Formats: sequence, C-alpha cells, structure tokens
Amino acid sequence: MDRRDFLKNGGAALGAFALQHAGLTQAPANAAAGRLLFPMNRNWRFSAQRAEGDTAPGFDDSHFERVTIPHTNKPVPWHSFDEKLYQFVSIYRRRFRLPAEAQGRLVFVDFDGAMTAAKVWLNGRLLGEYKGGYTPFSFDLTPLLDWKAENILAVELDSTERPDIPPFGGSIDYLTFGGIYRDVRLRAVAYTFIDSLFIRPVDVMSNSPSVDVVCQVGGDQIPARQEGPLMLEAELLYQGRSIVKAAGALDASRPPLDPVVRLMNLGPVERWSLESPQLYTLVARLIRGGRVVDEDRRRFGFRQAEFTDHGFELNGKVVKLRGLDRHQTFPWVGQAMPARVQRRDAEILRRELKINIVRTSHYPQSPAFLDACDELGLLVLEEIPGWNHIGDAAWKDISVDNVRRMVTRDAHHPSIVLWGVRINESRDDHDFYTRTNAMAHQLDPTRQTGGIRDHQDSELLEDVFTMNDFGWPLLPPNHPRYLNTEFCGHTYPTKPYDAVDRLTEHIRRHARVHNQLGSNPQYAGGIGWCAFDYDTHGNFGSGDRICYHGVSDIFRLPKPAGHFYRSQCDPAEDIVLEPAFDWSARGDWSAEMNHSIICSNCDRLKIVVRDRVIEAEPDRATYPNLPHPPFQVDLERVPYADMRIEGYLAGQKVVERNLSSRGLDQQFIVAADDNQLRADGADSTRITFRVADEYGNLRRYATAAIRFHVEGPVQLIGDNPFALVGGCGAVWIRAQFSAGTAVVRAIHPALGALEVRIQIAPAPAERL
Ligand code: GAL
Repeated sequence: MDRRDFLKNGGAALGAFALQHAGLTQAPANAAAGRLLFPMNRNWRFSAQRAEGDTAPGFDDSHFERVTIPHTNKPVPWHSFDEKLYQFVSIYRRRFRLPAEAQGRLVFVDFDGAMTAAKVWLNGRLLGEYKGGYTPFSFDLTPLLDWKAENILAVELDSTERPDIPPFGGSIDYLTFGGIYRDVRLRAVAYTFIDSLFIRPVDVMSNSPSVDVVCQVGGDQIPARQEGPLMLEAELLYQGRSIVKAAGALDASRPPLDPVVRLMNLGPVERWSLESPQLYTLVARLIRGGRVVDEDRRRFGFRQAEFTDHGFELNGKVVKLRGLDRHQTFPWVGQAMPARVQRRDAEILRRELKINIVRTSHYPQSPAFLDACDELGLLVLEEIPGWNHIGDAAWKDISVDNVRRMVTRDAHHPSIVLWGVRINESRDDHDFYTRTNAMAHQLDPTRQTGGIRDHQDSELLEDVFTMNDFGWPLLPPNHPRYLNTEFCGHTYPTKPYDAVDRLTEHIRRHARVHNQLGSNPQYAGGIGWCAFDYDTHGNFGSGDRICYHGVSDIFRLPKPAGHFYRSQCDPAEDIVLEPAFDWSARGDWSAEMNHSIICSNCDRLKIVVRDRVIEAEPDRATYPNLPHPPFQVDLERVPYADMRIEGYLAGQKVVERNLSSRGLDQQFIVAADDNQLRADGADSTRITFRVADEYGNLRRYATAAIRFHVEGPVQLIGDNPFALVGGCGAVWIRAQFSAGTAVVRAIHPALGALEVRIQIAPAPAERL
C-alpha cells in the first residue's frame, strides 16, 4: 500500500468529504489571495426535541432556542446527576447568506468539536455524518450552496453513547456531555487549497537549523494544467518580522508527505523552552501563475524533545517530568467552555500547580488549551479518544482516523512531546496499534509515540513505554524509555473537606511517587491522576458521581495536594509555604496524626507559637529525591494560640504565614479571573470565592450559601445560591452580546457582600 492509500484508508468511509464537485473545473477569475474565514458561532437555533421535517429549509424554527457556540445541549448540576440527562438526539439550525467575495470558491463548514455524532444537512440535503466528539471535521458545502439567497445548515447531533464510536462500547470513567461545544466556521478557499500543513524544524541544536514544510493540497487539481505549476512559498516570521522565505514546486507525483520547501539560513534561532517558550510563525502560500491562491499559517517552535534511556530531554537537557492528567469537563456546562476558560486551565496547571507536563486524558483537547500550553511552556502528551474498550473493525478505523486528525490538527504545537496512540488501558492489539503508530509516525516523524497501558507485559509498539502504575512502590521501568502516566487517583480519592489525616495522606502519596520517580533517571517522570475532580458515571466515583481524584476540586481550586505540586517549583519562580492543616481545627486531629505537613520550597522553617519556637528542615530523609521535600513537624505539644510560620532561604526570611487559632469565619474573599470579556455571547470568566480566617487562610468547613446578584449584559453559569464546598467555590460569568459593565455581587449571609466588576468590550459582529 503506498502512503497515499494508507492515509486514505485511515479515514475510510467517514464521509466528511463525500461530495464530488461536478462541473467545477474552472478556476474563478476573481479569487483573491488567501482564504476567507467566517466564524459561525452565533445565531444558532437549537431544540432538544426532534420534529418532523426539522432538517428541511422551510421548517419553522422560530420557537427553537437561540444559542451560541460553545453550547451544551443540557445544563446539568455540578454533581449527582444522571448522564441520561444529556444523552439524546438534538437539532441545531443556522441560516446564512454568502457574501459576494466568497463567490467562485469552495466553501467548507468546519466544526472543531461536536459531541458525539453529527449528521449535517445543507438546504435539505444530507452531506454526511461525522462520528466522533473530540476531533475536528468539515463538510464541503459548495455544490449545494445557494449563492444568492439564504442557506440553511442543519445538524442532527446524537449525544448518546454510541457503541460504534470511540470512546464508547464499554464503560468509561468520565462524562462526555453533549452539544456543539467547540467553534464552527465557514472557510472559503480557492479550488486548489492548502489542506494540511506540517512544519518540521530540523537540526534544532545545531548552528544551522532549518525548517521543512510539508503541505497537502486539497480540491480540484484540473486548473493546474491551465495555469501552470503549483508552488508553495514558505515564509518564517519571528515577532512579526520576516526571517526568510523560499518556494518549492508541488507537483502531483511528489509523495504527499515529503517536504516541499526547506527553509535554510535562518541565522540563530530562539529555542522554545519551559522557561522561555519562544514561538515562530510559518506562513504558507500556494502560488499558481504568479498569483497567491491560498494562504495558511501555523505557530510553532524550535526545540528538541526526546525520551531517552536516561529520562526526557528538552534541548539536550534532562527535565524530570512532573505532571497531571486533565479532563476538559467543567461544572454545569460539561465541555462547553470558550477559549478563555480553556486557556485558564493551562495557566492554572503551569502557574498555580507548577507542573511541566499535562496529559490530555483521554482525548484531543481544545486548540485554545494547546495554544496556551505553547505560550506558557507546558509540555503535553496528547492522546486519542478511548477508555479500556476496543470495538470492531469499523470502530478501529475511526480510531486510526482519530490519530490522523489529531496529528494533522496539532503537530505544529511545540508543547506536544508525545502522541498517545493507544486506547487508554486497553488490551494489546498488535494489528490495530501497528496502524495507529504508523499513522502518527508517517504524518509526524519528528515526535515519539506512547500508548497508555496498565500492565507491564504489554507489547511495546511505541517509542516510549507509557504506563499507568497505581501500585506502591512503583514497578521498576521495564523499558529504557519509560513514563508513568497515572498514579494515585482512585486509590486515594480525597474531597476538599475531608479530615486533615486524609488531606495529609493525599499529599504523602503524590510526594512518595514523585520521590521514587526521582530515584532513577530511567523514569522520565510521572503524570499524576489527576489535576481536577470530574463528573463521572454512577459505577465510578464517590456516590455523587464525582471522581474526587484531583489535586484541585472541580472548580479548579487547590486541595493541599495541589499545594504540594506548587511547592516543587524553584523559589526563584515563586516562594511557596502552605500548611496542609487547618490550625484552628486541631481538636479534630486523630491521635496518630503527630506529624503535620507543610509544603514549601524554603530551605528552613521557623514555627512560632507564643514563646515556643520550632525549627524545621525539609524531610530529606523520607523524600531524598524531591527538589523540595515537604516539611514534617510535630505540633502535638505546641500551645494553642495563633501560629506564625517563617520561611527562610539561605538564612534570609523570605515569607511568613500566620494561622489563626480562633475557629471563626472572619473574611469573605471574592475574585474574578479576568476583569474584561468580549461581548461575543460566549466569552466567560470564573469568579472564585472563599471564606477565610483573619489572616486569609481558607476555612475548609465553612458552609454558607452564597447568593449572587448580577447586573449587566452577562449570564451566570452556576448555582445561585451556591453552597460552599470546602469553604470555597466558583461560578462563571458569560458575556452576552452588549458591551458595558457587569457587576457581580456575591453575598455571604454573615460576612456581607462583595462586588466584582467586569468590563464587557464590544466584539465585532459575525459576517454571516
Ligand atoms: C485509570 C484510568 C483513568 C481514571 C483513573 C482513576 O485507570 O485510566 O481514566 O479512571 O483510573 O484513578
């Protein structure tokens, strides 16, 4: 089978490009340079009930709800709900008229993600069905478009757990929700257009790096004979400046994945690293007869990333990986959060939890999230959808095609250092995984593959043995290149309001794993289960259908184990001092709890209570391989009064924390993640709130119901009132379509009301 056939077979029978362009053989005379992109997120009409004829153009949808993408087909409680609530077939309809400049082009509709199977009609004609909720898909609208009048796009969205589509067929420990939950746009391109682009930096560590540009062209090739050869021009930009430009011929005989252009003589390049994630842009122009017929661009970086027999190396230096798994689900709206909120998760992981790698368990995640990982210097292991179960031959074809779509969409991200090409924790399947590996390697020879399994006797077809090892102690590495991709998780669920013994043990279990991973260079590091608590099915979780496996809660607020992760950063980046205990809850401590934990990256602590002073060193005896071992201190005979903890670095006091002994809720603290949103109907930000003692320490057992009063052009996503969870919580504010000021007043029944103000800036209208 040649490469072209191989790639085609990977995407067999999915129907996304099923239509032929009968009669479209003339290149349009008026085609302007580049492509036209028309965001199409607003003005959708939605109904959870199907009706006779609801895909037909003339159907009266005036009674449908008007919705904006990202959209959840069903708002749900934040926990304790039946997943059947969102598992139904719904209908979305969208009218549009094409602007004059789209004439004479091919027009595609691009869906970044719709859960789970989408049948798409244009003007009453079925274009096909795309099966898969986590991967992008497109339909060619061209032959059925009405260029002069209104067009009607209808999407029948099946959000049930269809056993013919990954990850379904068995049971899964997470929820998939429903809705068109990622962006939609129309893309108008020339008859011959750039279909995919792969940017491959070469010899990155040398003095003369270069960039190979691979381009697959789509559309109708016939005009090629009439207008001369097709060329690809590639231009490298850094901080808006052009660095170098070159062109190559795109003739049909060329193997589709061979580079078309090699950009050389770049001069010195700024490498992408964790500390300084430098980004470049590659602009690709398709040129025919001297005219630019299409243009596309990708942001990328120069870095060398490799799993070796002595750990993971970035730009030739070993980096011990300290990571967490992330589910992309949120309270109340499932997966339907816009770019800003996706990006915020990456910031929380990198800046608050201070990890250096995230695994997108168990599916490709939002492009906005990955963009943020690029910008923040957060490494990524991205994997295909799936959980334990492998389906029949057609199911496997979809899964191989998921690899194709994931790699094609994301290969430019410098943050991604490993492709996960197995169904998480599935049995071995030699032929299937030979195909998934080959697909990833062919499309992207620059990156290694992994495939997450849970038993060491599994056949290694990948470059890196990626293994969920929940046991203790960890198994020794059984392959030279070895990465632990899950630990802790269900073996120690921990709620934010659990007793201090459990919160402390939660820290210890994460700490001991990272400590063991630090003991042997062959462990590339570890990715703990998991970053955030998540909604799940009734056969998993803690009785309220939540897996409390996160080091942060479902609102992305840290538990003490989250502070442990944070404390592992270099003090030059941030000085951390976080006691794992609530000093005022000392009466709660069980007799065995004679060692309290303080997570800190200081090198010495001084604990002062009245005239009692305890000097403490990091617990290097228990955790010799951690960069910053937690401090274990015996506080049993310490008098019961306010505590002061001072943190020292090289003899200098660098931080101080005071802990109250009073046991009173003294402060109500409210903050917004952002003070500006765009009035595009979807842009959102989180409002966090907590009850604290007089020094600002979280009061975990505070239980008030917080009421919200919202003024201005926004909508509240969340419970109102909201009953505090572990003394804290969050809601989100979603912009509507008007600019102005939103005032969110949060009212605590005893501690009073606080206001946050958010400016809602105008957003340009959608053209269509
Ligand atoms: C793993 C699985 C994860 C999650 C975790 C809970 O086996 O891969 O998705 O269910 O267990 O600890």
